[in-house]
Amino acid sequence: MKKLVVIDACIRGEESRTRRIAEPVIETLSKRYEIIRYDLTKMPMEPLTPATYAERVAGNVPAWALEAARTVAEADRIVVVAPFWDMSFPAVVKVFFEHLSLFDVTFTDNGRTCVGLCKCEKVMYITTRGMNIPTGDSREQGTSYLQALSRLWDLGVVLTVAAWNMDYSTPEEIEEKIDSTTRFGIRLAATF
Ligand SMILES: Cc1cc2nc3c(=O)[nH]c(=O)nc-3n(C[C@H](O)[C@H](O)[C@H](O)COP(=O)(O)O)c2cc1C
Repeated sequence: MKKLVVIDACIRGEESRTRRIAEPVIETLSKRYEIIRYDLTKMPMEPLTPATYAERVAGNVPAWALEAARTVAEADRIVVVAPFWDMSFPAVVKVFFEHLSLFDVTFTDNGRTCVGLCKCEKVMYITTRGMNIPTGDSREQGTSYLQALSRLWDLGVVLTVAAWNMDYSTPEEIEEKIDSTTRFGIRLAATF
């Protein structure tokens, strides 16, 4: 069975609207993929410091990071599930990528520039935004960051599944947005 890695940063847990949209989509995908989950809310992680950077340069990478980087490099598909925070995703997602961006694991170089080593062909990015910011707006830096990372690691196309204006809608409108975005995600999952 092909492998799909889920990177979940829904910090509000059970309250998370993003996770509500993602779960039925992941359930649909689980019929075709073996699901491997990284719940970043349960992984204590710090950005690189002078000390941990020096360790990395000396070739000492934390075992969990090497394992996760190899798993991501070998995944056929990736699903990122993260609320929209500070015009992007929660910082823990960036910290996770920082730990996994390992030379000769997720990327390498060809003497002229960096090239990706990942097998993934498609990334699905599931998110909800509080403000009225549609996907692709210049204020929306989640999709553009993942597209840039995809160019570094070679992850393929980034498909964004998003609901927005969540913090300025009525409860009925919010439910409708969650429903229609979930349906869109499930439709996308059929060809993902
Ligand atoms: C710490 C924090 C930062 C946020 N930053 C933004 C932001 O920059 N832009 C925005 O549109 N919404 C922002 N929001 C609102 C969330 O994107 C919105 O409520 C979203 O639906 C939350 O997703 P969740 O229910 O999955 O946690 C922020 C919310 C929190 C808690």
